[in-house]
Amino acid sequence: MKSLLLGCLLVICNLSYAEPFKGADIAAGKALVEKNCISCHASSFGGDGSGIYTREHNKVKTSKGLLAQVRNCNTMIGLKWFEDEELNVAGYLNKTYYKFTE
Ligand code: HEC
Repeated sequence: MKSLLLGCLLVICNLSYAEPFKGADIAAGKALVEKNCISCHASSFGGDGSGIYTREHNKVKTSKGLLAQVRNCNTMIGLKWFEDEELNVAGYLNKTYYKFTE
């Protein structure tokens, strides 16, 4: 029983380690990005705009930096997102492009 409990704890720790934006709603984040963010990135980076996340020497280096950048672009265009929306977007971008694990 003790080892079972320990095993569960390990799994939980692992999950939170592998997912810095815990509880983010990835599908909601994707919809927000598609609606608000892609056109501008696409006009400067071409294609579907995702090149901005994967370009060499990209700006965002950590999950904290990612959340900060989401916040910057959000404020810049005056979307007034709530924190959970920022989290959803950061979670989506991380899962799809950045893949930070902590
Ligand atoms: C008006 C144009 C514009 C809009 C709209 C916009 N962005 Fe950006 N975004 C930029 C530019 C320009 C950069 C590059 C900034 C730099 O290199 O310093 C950028 C960079 C980023 C990066 C960092 C890319 C990297 O280098 O790793 C992220 C993440 C990002 N934007 C997210 C968003 C999100 C989320 C939204 C929607 C809320 C959004 N952006 C909307 C212009 C825009």
